[in-house]
Amino acid sequence: MDLNVLIASPEAVPFAKTGGLADVAGSLPKALKALGCNVSLIMPMYRQVLEGDFNIEPAGLGVNVPIGPYILKVPVFKSSISDIPVYFLRRDECFDRRYLYGSPEEDYFDNLERYTIFSRGVVEVLAESGLHFDIVHCNDWQTGLIPAYLKSIYRDTPVLKKTASLFTIHNIAYQGVFPSSVFDTTGLPPALFTMDGLEYWGNVNLLKSGIVFSDIVTTVSKRYSKEIQTPEFGCGMEDILKANKGKLFGVLNGVDYEEWNPAEDRYIDSRYSPANMRGKGLCKKALLMEFGLDMPLKVPLIGIVSRFVEQKGFDILSEAIEGLMKMEVGVVALGTGDKKYQELFKALSKRHPKRFSVKIAYDNRLAHKIEAGADMLLMPSKYEPCGLNQIYSLKYGTVPIVRATGGLNDTIEDFDPTTGDGNGFKFHKYSANALLYKVKEALRIFKDKKRWRRVV
Ligand code: ADP
Ligand code: GLC
Repeated sequence: MDLNVLIASPEAVPFAKTGGLADVAGSLPKALKALGCNVSLIMPMYRQVLEGDFNIEPAGLGVNVPIGPYILKVPVFKSSISDIPVYFLRRDECFDRRYLYGSPEEDYFDNLERYTIFSRGVVEVLAESGLHFDIVHCNDWQTGLIPAYLKSIYRDTPVLKKTASLFTIHNIAYQGVFPSSVFDTTGLPPALFTMDGLEYWGNVNLLKSGIVFSDIVTTVSKRYSKEIQTPEFGCGMEDILKANKGKLFGVLNGVDYEEWNPAEDRYIDSRYSPANMRGKGLCKKALLMEFGLDMPLKVPLIGIVSRFVEQKGFDILSEAIEGLMKMEVGVVALGTGDKKYQELFKALSKRHPKRFSVKIAYDNRLAHKIEAGADMLLMPSKYEPCGLNQIYSLKYGTVPIVRATGGLNDTIEDFDPTTGDGNGFKFHKYSANALLYKVKEALRIFKDKKRWRRVV
């Protein structure tokens, strides 16, 4: 039987992206289609979509979305990626904004309204479009209300009777928490605002709604599915997840090798493949130029592509960095995020202009160039649900140095010089010393060309 799947996501490549969720939402439909599913994607019509160079037209469908006492008209637009239908829900006063979820300083004040409109709009599309979906695949807190609507207001809607919901947690630290006073906006029956429902310590918690009301919960690696059942990683959701563990599964993210493959990459300076790695050296040369580093080509180069936030391990990296600069190595970093890390990196590049360079930017082309041109990619994350950059790195022959957490732990196996097994370097303790020790080991292996080729 062919399954009809609707993926509801707050972001998706190529339309709008802040992080890995967009990569997954853009590539998963293609992979499911290849398995024989009929897949569609639905997301908000952001400014990036309105202003982007995409072929978008009205879908010939509009839905009515009740919000508090009002009924909003939400027209639906349509485009496609690789013949996969992509639907957009349009409310310009909500989504025609510079950022997706908020400015660098703060979240948008009306995120509950924005994602209530989106979530209820998705359910209305399920109910009204005439397209029958077996599964609605919800992603992160922005879509957490969808399962709650299906289990309450729409429970007896005939076309939805057989629609199951799957809720995927990409990062449990982001939960969509709002004061109880806005609960009415959701239009959900008050009986759902309890401990067994979407109430959490007196607030409305949209992630909890997704967990509690969906039929299946997944997260993006096996390891993370276990970690989030503990107080260290659960961000308060551990007991709720333990209570729901019968429906909780860890499914590792896949990646899109049409986008991330050095043999076909349109952004890099010279293409290469395992059969002929010469191009990688040319990519390194170009990368050093682009970042203004003045060091011999044979000195190892570490790349970092990341949101500059605590999750990604920047506090231990800050502590380790002067030690790192004492080693024979160069570092290029690309990212945006917390001011303190941006300032720190800028100061470092002033102190070590020949060997440390940072670009504070969001730039997909540069992200590809780093994957191709660096010898190693550093991800010292404090926690990491899956992580995609280390998986891209493996394809580019760029050796990941990672901390053993979540998806990093599941995808990277520490290199063992005696057996030659392993695909990267992995340290366990969340500390600057453990990081430095592992980098030192990687640099030692780097000098041994035969062994290094083996890891690559
Ligand atoms: P997360 O979603 O937690 O940020 P992932 O490793 O899953 O981490 O995915 C990050 C994605 O965002 C990757 O595709 C990465 O290349 C991209 N990315 C992160 N920061 C930047 C940046 N400054 N410029 C371009 N791409 C970036
Ligand atoms: C989140 C996580 C990241 C994961 C991505 C896609 O942003 O932080 O680890 O790879 O979602 O699932």
